[in-house]
Amino acid sequence: MKKYIIGNWKMNLNVHEASLFAAKLAQTVKVHSDVETVICPGFLALEPVSLQIDHRQMKLGAQNCYWRDEGAFTGEVSARQLCGLAQYVIIGHSERRHIFGEDDRDTRFKVQAALRNGIRPILCVGETADERDAGDTEHVLCDQVASGLMNVASGQLGEVVVAYEPVWAIGSTRPAGTTDVAAATKVIRDEIGRMFGVAAAKTVPILYGGSVGGSNAEEMLSVDNVNGLLVGRSSLIASEFAKMVEIAAEID
Ligand code: 13P
Repeated sequence: MKKYIIGNWKMNLNVHEASLFAAKLAQTVKVHSDVETVICPGFLALEPVSLQIDHRQMKLGAQNCYWRDEGAFTGEVSARQLCGLAQYVIIGHSERRHIFGEDDRDTRFKVQAALRNGIRPILCVGETADERDAGDTEHVLCDQVASGLMNVASGQLGEVVVAYEPVWAIGSTRPAGTTDVAAATKVIRDEIGRMFGVAAAKTVPILYGGSVGGSNAEEMLSVDNVNGLLVGRSSLIASEFAKMVEIAAEID
């Protein structure tokens, strides 16, 4: 399976800054046929960056979408509106779930909306520190995976990407340990296997996200069941992002 290096720029960079940064990435990131490199700027920067980048080098993702295709939903952006501009969309990121109150139902509908509009959903799942301390990690991950993928048809599974992002590791200085990541990503793949069959589950890329950068990318990418990285802060440093792409290209 290809490796995925996906940069989530979150709510950083204005349109001008995003264009400048995309230009810098274009000079820094190398193309590898076995690495899918994706950048996810804010909505406003999607179009200018799209016109600027070589899509063989980097694909574009959005950070969110609404699940209705159109209508009176002031301030929302639908997957239908993103169609043709973004090839991926991050769904159910912990910041959406915990700051904006998105629940599993929203997440499920958004996965559906992305798929029906030809955009690959990156479904984010992960436990909070409290859930982890209570020994609920497995239960939480199974619930989030089962709920997020509930209405996905077997034929659509090949478009789905899942990201394991433990909430306590995001934006911290505390990445998850590789033993925990191995256990969590196995739980995720097994749950997908229960839903769609073991063979189909093997085709779904599972990414790790949470305080990952050039210095720990290799150990994370070496974990069984980890097929890529979803990167926050380090995706905003061109040399770090390019380094992760190189590491991904070198790992079997
Ligand atoms: P950091 O890499 O900044 O911890 O963020 C991870 C993340 O939330 C990516 O979606």
